[in-house]
Amino acid sequence: MFNQLREAQLDPILSLSIAYREDARADKMDLGIGVYRNSQGETPIMRAVQQAQQQQLDTQTTKAYVGLAGNEVFNQSMMDLLLTDTSAHTRATAVQTPGASGALRMLADLMRLAQPDTTVWISNPSYVNHKPVMEAAGLKVRFYPYFDPATKQVDSSAMLAELAKAGPQDVVLLHGCCHNPTGADISFADWMAITELANKNGFLPFVDIAYQGFGDGLEQDAAGLKHMADNTEEMIIATSCSKNFGLYRERTGAAIVISDSLKVAQKAKGRILNLARSTYTMPPDHGAALVATILSDQELTRTWKQELSEMHGRLLSLRTGLTQAVRAQGSDDFDFIEQHKGMFSVTGLSPEQVGRLRDEFAIYAVGDGRINIAGLQEQQLDYLATALLSVSS
Ligand SMILES: Cc1ncc(COP(=O)(O)O)c(C=O)c1O
Repeated sequence: MFNQLREAQLDPILSLSIAYREDARADKMDLGIGVYRNSQGETPIMRAVQQAQQQQLDTQTTKAYVGLAGNEVFNQSMMDLLLTDTSAHTRATAVQTPGASGALRMLADLMRLAQPDTTVWISNPSYVNHKPVMEAAGLKVRFYPYFDPATKQVDSSAMLAELAKAGPQDVVLLHGCCHNPTGADISFADWMAITELANKNGFLPFVDIAYQGFGDGLEQDAAGLKHMADNTEEMIIATSCSKNFGLYRERTGAAIVISDSLKVAQKAKGRILNLARSTYTMPPDHGAALVATILSDQELTRTWKQELSEMHGRLLSLRTGLTQAVRAQGSDDFDFIEQHKGMFSVTGLSPEQVGRLRDEFAIYAVGDGRINIAGLQEQQLDYLATALLSVSS
């Protein structure tokens, strides 16, 4: 049976990690894979997570099944983090999923059930897995203009002009904050304009938020999403705890459905549970149990928010530091790095220039020119600045 299979295509980011591991050069730099690293180059277990984990170890008495929707305290906490103070808070339901990846797939499957002829509009470029997941669920995909390579910012007018063509059969997928891969976020005015278009044209907004707290702060990063949730009848959200709780390998996320009534949102939740039953059945418990413990405890919540804000502060200082390091070498070509949000920036380097970064400087970036700012060390900034200027001149 299996010798008829075509060879699998390697994921470009995961294969980059393999090449990096095999590189023997001492000053090599991994700016490929999207994980946060501290000033020692480690991806630490956050303090609040460690404490919650210890509590779990001391108090957990069973490993019996949790249930199809996962941990309901966690589900409520995810809705609280994103929807508190909006009218959507009381007409939304959530299902715990294996990461935001699981949420993306469950929501895609739900759309396929509800409206088989759906087209999902995705930003150009977008998170590398958006298109494959939507297509695997049998949905059509279409791209809308997003990033302006000249300014390295969002081309709002081109984006809004294209989205004005989306209609009732369409779903518009947006990044809640910290756009992956570009680092260029839409403005609050853009959120307002897209909300208006959704109401006028009847398309469904779909927000993927995987970096809440890494852009402008926990509250601010959800401001656009909240405006949209408050002012539309229906909206769906995929959310992740991989980055802001550092729970990458625990596969912790949620799918949220907002509708015009709680009754409809509950019906959608029921159908997601059917879908989950016929795929993975239940999400893993550990990560969600830790998040639920943290967000149900004032002291642990304070500790978590403090550490998240330290991580955010470090990201900002790395962005400023890199921009200044380039400026110190006489160029303002990379000033946009300071304006970008979150872990990533698209540098504008071509695949060939990215190849030179790797061959001449042992710096590993993604082929589309994306670098992971959160993977940098302070002492590497001058070297990276030299390398960027050398390959781009
Ligand atoms: C925009 C976006 N969505 C979803 C995900 C997947 O996150 P998770 O690890 O929770 O599956 C990522 C991870 O990189 C991402 O960048």
